[in-house]
Order: sequence, then C-alpha cells, then structure tokens
Amino acid sequence: MKDHIKKKLKLKVSAIKDGTVIDHINALSLFKVIKILGLDKIKNQITFGTNLDSAKLGRKAIIKVSDKFFKDDEIDKIALIAPHAKLNIIEDYEVVEKRIVEIPDVIHGIAKCFNPKCITNNEEISTCFQVISKEPVRLKCHYCEKITGQDQIKIK
Ligand code: CTP
Ligand code: ZN
Repeated sequence: MKDHIKKKLKLKVSAIKDGTVIDHINALSLFKVIKILGLDKIKNQITFGTNLDSAKLGRKAIIKVSDKFFKDDEIDKIALIAPHAKLNIIEDYEVVEKRIVEIPDVIHGIAKCFNPKCITNNEEISTCFQVISKEPVRLKCHYCEKITGQDQIKIK
C-alpha cells in the first residue's frame, strides 16, 4: 500500500492545530470523560472517535479539543475514570508535550457515593473521598465510610 494512504488510514480522527488530544480512553468511559470535563457545555471545536482498535485496550476512544489546555485538577479527574488516558498537547500541529494522568489522594465532588443512604445522596452536600486504592480505584466516603469501587463510580 502507498505510504500516503497508510498515513490516512492511521489517522481516524483529523489532526488538530492547537489544543489537547486525550488518547487511550477505554471506549466504555468516553461519555463519562466528556461529562466530567464539561465538554458538552463548551464552544470549542471537539472531535472524537470511539471503538477504535488499540493494541493495549482492545477498543479505545479519543477526544480532540481545539484551543483547550486542561488544568492539573481537570487532568486528575480524567484519571478517575480513564486511568490509561494519555494527554497530548498540540501546538501548531506538533505534539509539544505528553502527559499521563494520575489519580489524586483525595477527591472532592465529581463522583457519587455508592451508598444510597449516604447523606451526600440525600442532601445538598458535595462528596469527598479518600482514594484507598488506585489500581483498581477504590474510594472511601468521608461521610459514611462506605467504599465505592471502580465499576460503581457514577459521575455526580
Ligand atoms: N494528534 C492530533 N493532531 C496533531 C498531532 C497529533 O490529533 N496535530 C494526535 C494523533 O492523532 C495521536 C496523538 O495526537 O492520536 C498523539 O500523536 P503522536 O504522538 O504523533 O502519536 P503516537 O506516537 O501514535 O502517540 P502515542 O503512541 O504516544 O499514543
Ligand atoms: Zn457516602
């Protein structure tokens, strides 16, 4: 196959000029990532692809946000639901920085407590968790002390 065709096939979602590419998101977590970052509410150009082939994840998703450079606390949030995600910072079409995401030790807000009886699910109180394990993610509620596991995480 000709090289220029190979290149086109490799790039399933168009390159961007400036912004951030969040790559290697588990396909099942794509819409959660969009929600926690508030990407459904901003005016920037966003392109994404899902169920793309990935050697590591089987099926991956990718999100490209033009003219957006996430802050550290936003990047920490990504780690909670897409621990394998890699961020690529793009300037003038070039990848100028690659960042891996890292789960913080304490999480304020973002996730819901798994316990339906928890005060945070019944009153206007934002959640707070201590991260007692990062792989897999296990969150201990500051209020009811119940544990919310990786597969139970719902975004508040
Ligand atoms: N990318 C983009 N727009 C650009 C440059 C890169 O959308 N102007 C995307 C690429 O499509 C890729 C990601 O940013 O999904 C990282 O680019 P690059 O480092 O060139 O690709 P890889 O070497 O395949 O990255 P890695 O193996 O680190 O995931
Ligand atoms: Zn709780």
